Amino acid sequence: MRNPIERPTSEALFETAKTYFPGGVNSPVRAFKSVDGAPLFMKEGKGAMVTDEDNHTFIDFCCSWGPLILGHRPDSVFNSVMTAMDKGSSFGAPTRYESELAELILSNNRFIEKIRFVSSGTEAVMSALRLARGVTGKSKVIKFDGCYHGHVDSLLVSAGSGLATLGTSSSAGVPESFAQETVVVPLNDLSALKASFETYKDELAAVIIEPIPANNGLLLQDTTFLKDLRELCTANNVLLIFDEVISGFRVGFEGAAGLYGIQPDIITYGKIIGGGLPVGAYGASKEIMSNVSPDGPVYQAGTLSGNPVAMAAGIAQLTECVQPGFYEDQEKRTRAFIDPINAHAKAKGYDFEIITIGSIFWISFDGKQTIRQAAQINADMTGFRKLFNALLNEGIYIGPSGYEVGFISKAHTPEVLAEATKKFIAALDEAM
Ligand SMILES: Cc1ncc(COP(=O)(O)O)c(C=O)c1O
Repeated sequence: MRNPIERPTSEALFETAKTYFPGGVNSPVRAFKSVDGAPLFMKEGKGAMVTDEDNHTFIDFCCSWGPLILGHRPDSVFNSVMTAMDKGSSFGAPTRYESELAELILSNNRFIEKIRFVSSGTEAVMSALRLARGVTGKSKVIKFDGCYHGHVDSLLVSAGSGLATLGTSSSAGVPESFAQETVVVPLNDLSALKASFETYKDELAAVIIEPIPANNGLLLQDTTFLKDLRELCTANNVLLIFDEVISGFRVGFEGAAGLYGIQPDIITYGKIIGGGLPVGAYGASKEIMSNVSPDGPVYQAGTLSGNPVAMAAGIAQLTECVQPGFYEDQEKRTRAFIDPINAHAKAKGYDFEIITIGSIFWISFDGKQTIRQAAQINADMTGFRKLFNALLNEGIYIGPSGYEVGFISKAHTPEVLAEATKKFIAALDEAM
């Protein structure tokens, strides 16, 4: 194995950052805790490439953890943002940009009729839960072990012992009484889900799921499980929330709801919707959304919600996403990148596989294609750590955690990806 890449400037910047921020970062996974060395401080991104402060250039598959489906600094987003900015960055009053983005989304999405913009995925989820509770008058929520929904208090929970258990808080500062409002169930396990419904059905406001769970590996669910979940919710007057912060506008313009043909009651969005600026959203039928203030009693507000500059970024990005063939092309390029790597790993007998859906991929050291539950993930991340460093040496940047997925953008052209395949295979041979 070669040594990890040298990064003296990043190291110095990290030392300074540590004096300002807990762990030197403003979001924990950035701290490189599960890989080696100081985090790379990024200086610049263009297209599929990022350059760090030590002037290493990488093909970037982190893509800011998903938002950058067009790559870094696409001209369309850049120009749209500059035009909006030129007119003023925020008014705290309505602007035409909000309606323009809403129109673009709602006229191309069969699953929601009204939308509310917020500023992050966490805020979208938090608001969706409040809405579900407000609509149903009930308080408990089912979440699935392995799904992440942002740092919402009542969702920072892990399963208690046994199936269908009330959660216990997984973060200090979350009162147990909040965690007790959440029931944690394994993914893709219909009998556990039914048992939870049986026990708590009169108290349940909602079930929340990442329909494409992509925060603890890529735990693709059986479509039948998602359909059964829909039916159970309907039969018990429980609202189904699809958290599409990752899958929304990623696996198709209509996200996982469109891909699987399942109508959730509320959908949350984030990441891609904001074109790289901080935007989240939640949407539902007109009837459900009529409960949101000022139309209804469920309070929710935001000083920078629907910010015109952020809306302008979202409009430019989604205008490209909605073009015919956009998602087919994304998937085709993703397969052309991944398939040769998987074929190589198989020929070499490596206990390794890259799992994909649409333009999302996850590097699995689990040696089996079909893991659908968090508990099945191989917790030994030695292989990932070695591969991560070998990839950096080859000039490929992925998210610094073996539980995280990677993303392909429109800027990852066939040429860039052909080069990435070669580099990836070289790194894999070095790491295995
Ligand atoms: C599925 C899902 N929901 C919610 C969130 C929270 O979004 P944010 O980080 O914008 O608050 C994330 C973030 O990664 C996510 O992946």
